[in-house]
Amino acid sequence: MTLQLTNDRFSIAIDRSKPVPITEQITTNLRSAIMDGLLEPGARLPSWLDMATRLGVARGTVKAAYERLTDEFLVVSAGAAGTRVAGRKPVTPTLPTRQIARPLQGIERGFSLAPLPFQIGVPAQDAFPAKLWSRIRTRAVREDAMAPVGPPDPRGHPELRAQIASYLAISRGIRCVPDQIILTSGYKNGLFLAITTLQLHGRSVWMEDPGYPIAKMGLELAGMTVVPVPVDDQGIRVDRGIALAPDAGLAVVTPGQQAPTGVTMSPSRRRELLDWAKREDAWIVEDDYLSELQLTGRAAPALAAEDTHGRVVHVGSFSKTLSPALSLGFLVAPLAMAERFGEVAACLNPAPNPTTQLALASFLADGHYLRHLRHMKALYMERRNALRECLGQDLIMQDVSGLAVPIRLPKGFSDVALAQQALGRGIAPLPMSVWHHNREDAQPGFLLGVTNLRKGHLEQACGTLRELIAAGA
Ligand SMILES: Cc1ncc(COP(=O)(O)O)c(C=O)c1O
Repeated sequence: MTLQLTNDRFSIAIDRSKPVPITEQITTNLRSAIMDGLLEPGARLPSWLDMATRLGVARGTVKAAYERLTDEFLVVSAGAAGTRVAGRKPVTPTLPTRQIARPLQGIERGFSLAPLPFQIGVPAQDAFPAKLWSRIRTRAVREDAMAPVGPPDPRGHPELRAQIASYLAISRGIRCVPDQIILTSGYKNGLFLAITTLQLHGRSVWMEDPGYPIAKMGLELAGMTVVPVPVDDQGIRVDRGIALAPDAGLAVVTPGQQAPTGVTMSPSRRRELLDWAKREDAWIVEDDYLSELQLTGRAAPALAAEDTHGRVVHVGSFSKTLSPALSLGFLVAPLAMAERFGEVAACLNPAPNPTTQLALASFLADGHYLRHLRHMKALYMERRNALRECLGQDLIMQDVSGLAVPIRLPKGFSDVALAQQALGRGIAPLPMSVWHHNREDAQPGFLLGVTNLRKGHLEQACGTLRELIAAGA
């Protein structure tokens, strides 16, 4: 039912069938009338009672609408003299018309979207322990609300930093004290903090080729000169790095499982890289994005575990092991740099949301994190094997221990164009060429994420992929 209040200047229409509360409908009507000049400064509004009777609503509903407009400085209440439109006409800013493109066009398919089959980088949505997490988080919200309100530690909650330090000792072989750990909002934030703290702007940086395109873009945006360094079956080619940019101030690497090839950096390559950093006073950012989430065998220890000269900044993230929605990660600062990292965090980049940190601290302390990782390894292994079986060996390029399976496409194919078509068909294979910095070297191919391949969807996803490849051949 629509109720109408009309005078010669304006009208208010209330529609009870709309899901919008009546108070809000009255507020919106009055606000528009004031902004559009239909109600002039100084004009008197009907009394609550009068308006309520004419609209057939409760007096309190009108009162609440008037109070809201008073809070917005659009009307002034003068007690018995009633409510009047405020004296100064509000300025309505004109909105800019220029289109603003969202970030990472051509790299990310969008943000906050449900993952599609083959999409990489998102953990299994169906296996996130949602009930347990919400119970722990609710408890953390309560604890946090009762805690004394002082500025939180900008490096992160002490309890969480202590938990992460013990996790790293057990799972990644890193010996560090909690004060070396700085909480971040994820890997990218850790990279930013490292570049800023180590004052690397303007320097050259070795970046694995192929390698994570967002890190490449980030390094460039931070004013660094990116030098792509090829990767082979032992990891980054340190000899090529030295030949291409001997004066680089930083190397960004994924030693655990090279992204995207999945190769684990060999012991000799690790030594070469650490020796180079020591010799040249250069830094290494270790992107440990998968932590110990390696599907076959035990994950190799972190590079930071072997760093006796304090040149490695170990950067971890909970995006792939738990959920990107947590927006939590951490870095381990070399001991001699820990104070400086702490100062930079305090002045420029304090740790994110303390309540989520507190919840994560309990999740780790109660053993849920290690259990979850064990569970995920088994699940991802099962999903990867099912994918292999469904796809057949003819398409699969090589076996890797990571969470994505690489497939090669025929020469001359545009993997980017095919990936675009695939999105239209509801699957999201990742075009490999986007990860190659020297595009001439790039073989067209796809990376197929296994994490979200549920049983009921697998056959159809593989069928669609085969059809697309056959039609494009
Ligand atoms: C190679 C690599 N490193 C790190 C990350 C994680 O980034 P963040 O923690 O900022 O979500 C990703 C995510 O896709 C990645 O592919």
